[in-house]
Amino acid sequence: MELAIQIAVLKRILGLFLVILLGRFIYRLFQVRMKQSPPHSFFLGHLPAFAKLMARYPRDTAGEIIPILLTKEYPELQAQGLVCMDVWPLANPMLAVFQPDMIAQFCQSPSMPKNDLLQTIFKDFTDCQDLLCSEGDHWKRWRSIFNPGFSSKNILSFIPALIEEIQVFKDTLLKNTHSDIVFPLITPATKATFDIIGRVVLGTRFGIQTSESRLYKAMKDQLGWISLPDRPNILHRRNSPFRRLAMWNNNRILRNEIIPILQRQMLEIDRSGSPQIISRLAIEAHLKQTGRTVDSASTDQVEEFLRVALAQIEIFLIAGHDTTASTLCYAYYCLHGNPDIADRVRQEHDRLLGPDPTQAAAVIASDPSVLHRLPYTSAVIKETLRLYPPIASVRSGSRSLHLVHPETNQRFPTEGFVLMSTSQATHRLPQYWPRPNDFLPDRWLGEEGSSVNSRKIAWRPFEQGPRNCIGQELAMLELKLMLVLTMRELDIAPAYAANAPRLFGEPAYQAKILSELTNHPKDGMPVRVRRRGLQQA
Ligand code: HEM
Repeated sequence: MELAIQIAVLKRILGLFLVILLGRFIYRLFQVRMKQSPPHSFFLGHLPAFAKLMARYPRDTAGEIIPILLTKEYPELQAQGLVCMDVWPLANPMLAVFQPDMIAQFCQSPSMPKNDLLQTIFKDFTDCQDLLCSEGDHWKRWRSIFNPGFSSKNILSFIPALIEEIQVFKDTLLKNTHSDIVFPLITPATKATFDIIGRVVLGTRFGIQTSESRLYKAMKDQLGWISLPDRPNILHRRNSPFRRLAMWNNNRILRNEIIPILQRQMLEIDRSGSPQIISRLAIEAHLKQTGRTVDSASTDQVEEFLRVALAQIEIFLIAGHDTTASTLCYAYYCLHGNPDIADRVRQEHDRLLGPDPTQAAAVIASDPSVLHRLPYTSAVIKETLRLYPPIASVRSGSRSLHLVHPETNQRFPTEGFVLMSTSQATHRLPQYWPRPNDFLPDRWLGEEGSSVNSRKIAWRPFEQGPRNCIGQELAMLELKLMLVLTMRELDIAPAYAANAPRLFGEPAYQAKILSELTNHPKDGMPVRVRRRGLQQA
């Protein structure tokens, strides 16, 4: 009898719980749908429209490209400067903004807080102590600690180390010059960029390009656990019961690999005469800010510093490796597709570094500033980043923020929305970029008259404002160096199958990879490599 009563009570509690859940769902549905402008379904939001649209494009098309597809389908959206994407409850409703002045209204002035999405992604990894996710005083303090290390002047002092790592990258490519060999270029490119960050940030040679690395394996595995699927997928490993355990183990490996390096640097800090390694500069800046010395800091203070510094190093490794690697892949891709432009790049290298490509590394090592005198190569990289920016920025909307279109004065409330700065779409607006889909490095060399301002605001691969990319000088420099040290000796040709899926006629479209945080070229960009001046083997 007693058992029957208990079961009845339990059933009522469960029933009540379900009613509350349903109530909350209907409340949220109402909240979200009432904010949207038509046309869209009250119950399904934009889902039916998106499903119909996406059926015509490759399934793995990167999410950031969807606003471009939408404005093609509904040209009237162009005039709004943004598109609303409401697929709630599968994802939070989003305003994908592409009009650059409107992007500035939430990325620059004011710079709105990062969206909860980022916190969700990084909570179990860096505990959101890192520069990318953190906010307020914590972010401000750590940004000021790391800024000097990432300055252009400081980065230039790493040229010999960068040359060493890029030489290994080139050797890997040279080992694969047989015509039968097709391989995804993103793999060696990613390992090279990872090794480069190790040199610059930690002053350590990871050797990932040449040997198995526990650190690299743990980092890549960790990214697989935290990456969000583009579409809901209950089979995604994010939902695995082993997720926490696996992430804990990866965190343990990363800690064991990185903390001893930081501890060694702390001990050497007062003796070393060359503190330009970024982590070492950060230790110095931290001690200065807190008015302590290594010896006077308590164990708790040192541990707290190491805990946050570890999160920061991890974010540099994450944010800096595949963004730069996919840009490199696209630079080779664009140059292969535009042989005249590739020739001009090689001529610039001949002119500045001498006609013998094998001497280029020595010339640069003796005068690293020569890298600042390669306007055409810089233009090629900027144009590549215009066409294929690897990531977008996401911020939170708020009740007090309305986005205002600068020409029409149309106002858009932002409360409850994720705000996405969609540089992928901004970079293809014809009013800022004549012949927007063409690869035209020359557009970066013209007279920098009045047009340059509009151009500046409309070029946002590193975002603009206080939360812009701290690693942009490093990325630009290493990309330049990679092109300089390879372009005259190698031909790198995309090798997609003739029947490969295409987006806008291109097989190398930006694709969402389930185990990565950023978009990659489709299939990692399969290539064939040939040594220049030699017949194919
Ligand atoms: C081509 C290469 C790169 C691109 C396109 C890129 C792009 C970006 C963008 C768009 C943001 C802003 C993100 C947001 O608003 O949420 C960002 C932030 C950041 N990037 Fe990069 N990045 C690149 C390379 C690097 C490198 C090499 C590093 C470091 C080694 C790095 C470290 C960071 C960090 C720490 C932030 C957060 C900065 C802050 O909020 O204070 N990035 N990056």
